[in-house]
Amino acid sequence: MRRKLAAGNWKMNGNAASLSELKTLKDLLPPNPPQVVICPPAPLLFRATEAARGTDIMIGAQDCHMQHSGAFTGDVSADLIADTGATFVIVGHSERRDTHEERDSDVRKKATSAWASGLTAIICIGETLDDHAANNTLDIIAGQLAGSLPDGMTTSNTVIAYEPIWAIGTGKVPTLEQIIEVHDFIRAKLVTRCGAEVADMIPLLYGGSVKPDNAATIFQAENVDGALVGGASLKATDFAPIIAALA
Ligand code: G3P
Repeated sequence: MRRKLAAGNWKMNGNAASLSELKTLKDLLPPNPPQVVICPPAPLLFRATEAARGTDIMIGAQDCHMQHSGAFTGDVSADLIADTGATFVIVGHSERRDTHEERDSDVRKKATSAWASGLTAIICIGETLDDHAANNTLDIIAGQLAGSLPDGMTTSNTVIAYEPIWAIGTGKVPTLEQIIEVHDFIRAKLVTRCGAEVADMIPLLYGGSVKPDNAATIFQAENVDGALVGGASLKATDFAPIIAALA
């Protein structure tokens, strides 16, 4: 059976005091919880892995550099992320693609670097509102998958997150039918890319305005194996019901 995963992307929010949310979340987790990953800002990673020790909560970063070391002021390598005890890293988030002009080829290199450091890469894809309105979603997704996914995907080193950009932080969510269509399409592309056995076991997450009141509906889609959650992951009391809907 495919593993289920709820990932919380704190983006540039929170501080050291916010890590108390991890303990609250641990206390609110349902029995037999799905995998839970919290991705706090990079300066909190060390403390986050400490705070999560002994719990079922795993820690991830929000980005990594494609090189392992070197003269890249301000950047953080996958090696350094792994050194904090984190085990996941998000790559290719639309906010990185947009504000840091990251291209599919950059995302592919970052995912490769993440793997080399033993991290699981959560590789993000998603279309703009214009592409959605023009019915170009599947073409955009196909292009991003072809360009962003490295060869060598395994069931443990890769998670794919579909995040329609127009749904992020807007309160707008695609219909269940639209989510099903895109996730089925991604699964089919993965089968072509790495064979049915691997493709069937790679978790596919939906992201974009997932909230406690819509999570159960979204999780009805057969090829939705979890969520990548922004705003509603900041407070354990919001994130816990989303996790419970997945359990
Ligand atoms: O990476 C998660 C994110 O982009 C979705 O954000 O706030 O719409 O849940 P939000």
